[in-house]
Amino acid sequence: MANDIYKTDELIARDIDAYLEKHQHKTMLRFITCGSVDDGKSTLIGRLLYDSKMIFEDQLAVLEADSKRVGTQGQEIDFALLVDGLAAEREQGITIDVAYRFFATDRRKFIVADTPGHEQYTRNMVTGASTADLAVILIDARKGVLTQTRRHSYLAHLVGIRNIVLAINKMDLVDYDRARYDGIIGDYRAFADQIGVGSFQAIPISGLKGDNITSKSDATPWYQGPTLLEYLETVEIDQTRMIERPFRMAVQWVNRPNLDFRGFSGQIASGWIKPGDAVRILPGSTTSTVARIVTLDGDLSEAGAGQSVTLTLADEIDCSRGQVITPADQPLEVADQFEATIVWMAEEPMIPGRAYIMKIGTTQATVTVTDEKYQVNVNTMAHEPGKTLALNGIGVCNIATSKAIPFEPYAENPDLGGFILIDRLNNATVGAGMIHFALRRSHNLPWQTIDVDRTAHAAIKNQQPRLLWLTGLSGSGKTTIANLVEKKLHAMGRHTFLLDGTNVRQGLNKDLGFTDADRVENIRRIGEVAKLMTDAGLIVLTAFISPFRSERRMVRQLFPKGEFVEIFIDTPIEVAERRDQKGLYEQARRGDLKNFTGIDSAYEPPEAPEIRIDTTRLSAEEAAEAIIESLSMSF
Ligand code: ADX
Repeated sequence: MANDIYKTDELIARDIDAYLEKHQHKTMLRFITCGSVDDGKSTLIGRLLYDSKMIFEDQLAVLEADSKRVGTQGQEIDFALLVDGLAAEREQGITIDVAYRFFATDRRKFIVADTPGHEQYTRNMVTGASTADLAVILIDARKGVLTQTRRHSYLAHLVGIRNIVLAINKMDLVDYDRARYDGIIGDYRAFADQIGVGSFQAIPISGLKGDNITSKSDATPWYQGPTLLEYLETVEIDQTRMIERPFRMAVQWVNRPNLDFRGFSGQIASGWIKPGDAVRILPGSTTSTVARIVTLDGDLSEAGAGQSVTLTLADEIDCSRGQVITPADQPLEVADQFEATIVWMAEEPMIPGRAYIMKIGTTQATVTVTDEKYQVNVNTMAHEPGKTLALNGIGVCNIATSKAIPFEPYAENPDLGGFILIDRLNNATVGAGMIHFALRRSHNLPWQTIDVDRTAHAAIKNQQPRLLWLTGLSGSGKTTIANLVEKKLHAMGRHTFLLDGTNVRQGLNKDLGFTDADRVENIRRIGEVAKLMTDAGLIVLTAFISPFRSERRMVRQLFPKGEFVEIFIDTPIEVAERRDQKGLYEQARRGDLKNFTGIDSAYEPPEAPEIRIDTTRLSAEEAAEAIIESLSMSF
């Protein structure tokens, strides 16, 4: 059955060669172009498409007419019009961040990921680049190496692109000056060394005039290297890399059309497989044997990296979306804490402690950044301390996931080590990341099962644990009301505990201030403490401003359904300010107290609290009674 285990390396190597032989018809090069419109990106892509005759006749006619009409480039065809025209067409339909263009020559097929947009170029680049073999970094010969050049190169390197072409464009505008060209290469080499880019291919070009794009230019007799197309056609790409790695396939869906058939579908991330191979399903310890490899074109006798297949197994076993099928003897590492590089793509900053959705492989989990180790300054490559990540920020962070994830380091297997981060409230993609390794502690600390569990704790107190979470502005009356509610519960013989903002901040959270990041961490800790207290069987009351929806929701999700009760102490800011017992609003208005909630720091009111208390209509006593009454549950 599991023949591979007994094969020698030599035999395996021969098998791989035979496999590649069979499946490698005409190679495919995926590449991205980096640079802004000003650098001539559109013109260059247009020129490549045009010169490789991939533009259809009628499009060409329109293009020539358009160029005569609006082109600013004299009699020449304005290639930028072509690409931008396609882009406009595309944008009318669905919004996609990255457009892929196909073209082919006799020697190779190409996919160019066109990553438009100035605003969100980091996001577009990371998305487009994650599957690319090569990056063409465009430089305007008049401007030389810019911050953007450095940024793009760093990102390309970060997402694992090992082939870099430095296309020094607009050579016509610097009179094909060799010294200028050499100077730019020198600058770039110094930078490339810094980020660990060993080699790159520089080519002097003019996208507009066509110099060194598909044919050698007479204007650069001093340049002996290949033209851009020649280079793209012949550069060696690492197509064998993924097939040579152990077999990994993340299950995308369980294909079960009828009771007689159960297959596991997905795209093979690496390695190859054939019927009879012994496999293991991760996370977990289930093993089985591949029975069939099913595709739309019939059964296969083998399949490898890049192919989409459905595997059936010899045994009736449980395997669901998100699990990864591996060889029985070469399983994956499974962990729930990692070090990773995160590239941030949203206006709203990344905040450690805040929960995001992580999509990795075919699974998803809740994730928080537990510690930001440093940020990378892409202009200087310096490692700088930081607590959060702003738009386009890149940071190396420790992260913790809500469940165990089977993974491989991104550098080894982008499919199983790359992830995206999604905002839980608006579902926007806010970041992308690459796993470096699992933190050792994630293997060492399994959750301890304790025999006297939360049910036992609650039972002996003869009550249902609850978390009564009061939220509202400073001065809204949270503490006063919580205090009264606790007194009433206590009088009813209930076991309670009140956690109050100002008190907790004098002990457990002494190290935290009032920045967004600190408030997030404040609430995270309170949530965890409250969880322990309800596990102990208590009815817990908390009185914290807890200004952000995201963290209130995170705490809610720590608890079984119904146990978390959100109570909005709804007091208009004018009223709270009028009370201003501690004189804090006054200080904040004067500018002596920064980040004050409601003044220069946001308060996001609950959208659907279990209980809402309007303190302009109810006294504190009435409010407390109303709360006890609404909690018509049995304590
Ligand atoms: S929270 O935002 O992190 O939930 P928390 O409830 O712990 O805040 O603390 C709020 C209390 O700290 C307020 O009632 C007030 O007495 C005090 N405080 C001091 N500085 C600020 C500030 N900048 N913003 C809000 N409250 C502050």
